[in-house]
Amino acid sequence: MYVRKIYLEGFRNYEKEEAEFSRNINMIFGENAQGKTNLLESIYFTSFGKSFRTVRDRDMIGFGRDYCRVKADYIIEDEEEKAEIALAKDGRKAAKINGRKVERISEMINTFLVVIFSPEDLKIVKDEPEKRRNFIDRELCQLKFSYYESLSSYKKILNQRNSYLKEKNIDDMLLDIWDEKLAEEGSKIIHHRNDFIKRLSVISSGIHERITNGKEISNIEYQPSVLFYDDIKEQKNIFLSNLLSTRERDKEHGNTQKGPHKDDIDIKIKGKSTRRYGSQGQQRTVALSMKLAEIELINEDKNDYPVLLLDDVFSELDIERQRYLVDYLKKMQVFITSAEISDKMTDFFPDSRRIEVKSGSLI
Ligand SMILES: Nc1ncnc2c1ncn2[C@@H]1O[C@H](COP(=O)(O)OP(=O)(O)OP(=O)(O)O)[C@@H](O)[C@H]1O
Ligand SMILES: [Mg+2]
Repeated sequence: MYVRKIYLEGFRNYEKEEAEFSRNINMIFGENAQGKTNLLESIYFTSFGKSFRTVRDRDMIGFGRDYCRVKADYIIEDEEEKAEIALAKDGRKAAKINGRKVERISEMINTFLVVIFSPEDLKIVKDEPEKRRNFIDRELCQLKFSYYESLSSYKKILNQRNSYLKEKNIDDMLLDIWDEKLAEEGSKIIHHRNDFIKRLSVISSGIHERITNGKEISNIEYQPSVLFYDDIKEQKNIFLSNLLSTRERDKEHGNTQKGPHKDDIDIKIKGKSTRRYGSQGQQRTVALSMKLAEIELINEDKNDYPVLLLDDVFSELDIERQRYLVDYLKKMQVFITSAEISDKMTDFFPDSRRIEVKSGSLI
């Protein structure tokens, strides 16, 4: 799928602006602080209904404005599909698909497929576990609505359980009820994550092997906080017994020690943890392979490539990895931001569409 056209109104530093894009490579260039990342953010917004760089929606509304609106015309299997999303200062948010108001913003995420790749992602191997969990969650939510639902309930239940744990007089019978609910949703999450990581690992290791010309073998390992069990009933029982065994500690600290909110993944090269032993270059290769594997996985499940947003990432890579990426990018629509377009980039992408961004104008 690809974005044919975008309309922006009051979004960040864009007053009223529209632009048409190429179905393959779009080079978004311009000096610092002109609005390149803002443009990518607006595309992301039409898919995820939120930003990739702020948790406060209202940050996206232009200074001094009451609302912002983004419309994007996607082409999906040769048909035009219109995404529209608006956000008001008081927090109200509304979205439409082909003019039909969606009941929940989350409907957008499974329709319009977008992947963002920024320098942050290159650090994913070394970063704190939360970043890796976010990566998995974002992807699984895009692929499976049932995951999105389980994750939302799980987070709600977890918050409620944690609040209850902070109270003075805790009734174990009530805690049993929270545990039951947490284990129910948590077990589904563990199963989804286990399947996803297994598939991601296979694809990612193939890409990694190709980038390193067969010199390195990598794999991604799921490290769940509650051990994985094939049988979902057994999974839930193990989860419950884990919660029970840490209950006293949970009461003491007022939080929950065990569960998917403590999961992690480890990416290994030749069986050794890249986080602990990998060189910086290896960590980047692994991150790149994992990111591209994510795109392949979307293509496998949705039978279409997502729109790829490369924010300042291309110039961060060395020439070998760039070369690999250039071939790869031919398959989909890509937005590449960069302060300037070097000769090398012109060589790499001779047919790209170029859009200059200058203080909130698209030229
Ligand atoms: N809500 C907002 N309303 C108006 N302007 C905003 C808003 N949020 C951010 N900006 C402005 O947008 C500009 C930054 O835009 P952006 O992050 O897209 O820059 P960029 O072109 O990607 O720069 P760089 O090359 O440094 O990454 C800043 O000048 C900032 O003041
Ligand atoms: Mg930027």
